Amino acid sequence: MRKVDIFDTTLRDGEQSAGVNLQSHEKLEIAYQLERYGVDIMEAGFPASSQGELQSVKQIAENMKHCTVLGLARANHKDIDAVREAVKGAAKPGIHIFLATSPVHMQYKLNKTPKQVIETAVESVRYASQYFSHIQFSAEDATRSDWPFLAEIIEKTIDAGATVINLPDTVGFTTPEEYRKLFEYVQENVPNIHRVKLSAHCHDDLGMAVANTLAAINGGASQIEGTINGIGERAGNAALEEIAVALKIRQDAYKIETQIDLSQTVRTSKLVTKLTGMIVPQNKAVVGANAFAHESGIHQDGVLKNKQTYEIIEPEMIGLTSNKMVLGKHSGSHAFNEKCKEFGIYLDKKDSRKLFKAFKDLTAKKKEVTEDDIFALMMDSSLQE
Ligand code: KIV
Ligand code: ZN
Repeated sequence: MRKVDIFDTTLRDGEQSAGVNLQSHEKLEIAYQLERYGVDIMEAGFPASSQGELQSVKQIAENMKHCTVLGLARANHKDIDAVREAVKGAAKPGIHIFLATSPVHMQYKLNKTPKQVIETAVESVRYASQYFSHIQFSAEDATRSDWPFLAEIIEKTIDAGATVINLPDTVGFTTPEEYRKLFEYVQENVPNIHRVKLSAHCHDDLGMAVANTLAAINGGASQIEGTINGIGERAGNAALEEIAVALKIRQDAYKIETQIDLSQTVRTSKLVTKLTGMIVPQNKAVVGANAFAHESGIHQDGVLKNKQTYEIIEPEMIGLTSNKMVLGKHSGSHAFNEKCKEFGIYLDKKDSRKLFKAFKDLTAKKKEVTEDDIFALMMDSSLQE
């Protein structure tokens, strides 16, 4: 079994979600929970962006006991110095330097030639190496970069002192097959690559962030990055809780272990939802309200007989107490009778048939039938003759 490190960027890339603005005490509360969840590395923020952000990263750095705390920096001394100041009190400090390597970014955003980009990256990593032993270099927009150019900048930044190389799919453009091949290419074409960890960082613009991340693991990535609930720029980042659960449920396929405490999944997701205000869609994998809800009669009957018929994840594994049977128009008598028992309603066969019929009539008017609705049906005089 190979171990993959989990790098959480909820407090940096996640906070870049439109409309999200976390206060320092909220960031600290999330940081404590992320440490309980078991992340190996936490990107606490972008210290050069403001004094407030620097102080917030500093507070997190001083309070985390086990995980490495990083700050993000552009490839310049001012940003690197801001990270130095922010994480100096951390038990395990680190820095994350990024610079774009794709033609479109180099030409229009940076206004630099490829040669100048290499020089800037190498110089900044070398500068940071005087102060840090954990230095991640990210080739921003790696998936739209020229592969031989990527190999060259990676080799040179490793020689300059980088200890982790990240290949971000900054705009969510890649596909699982292509991303896996990129990881393989880098390992085959960068002579000093064995000296560093290789990291995957995916965005969800085409809805493939989690699949791409898993493909990178198959391609040899030893660190993966993401956010809780998949929050982040535009369509968001890869959802860490989905990846962690997928690696556990399909351990047979991936043969990967992480140090994530899956029982903290729901708690972590709920805290991030509450503090960011980013609502999780009901049907979202793993942490959506409907992820463990069964509505149709066939499914409910199956799950009541044996959970494994329609449940591949045990709700208890992620910190839920049980699954959920929703009474709606597709529900059958098996689930209906079980719910009645749960509500303390015991009826003979005849009354139970009558009540089930009344329940079915009600589902034509109402999406979800509640305990109160069933009691109201029981009180209905037509059922009491
Ligand atoms: O998506 C991205 O490229 C980033 C970098 C800063 C790593 O978030
Ligand atoms: Zn990103």
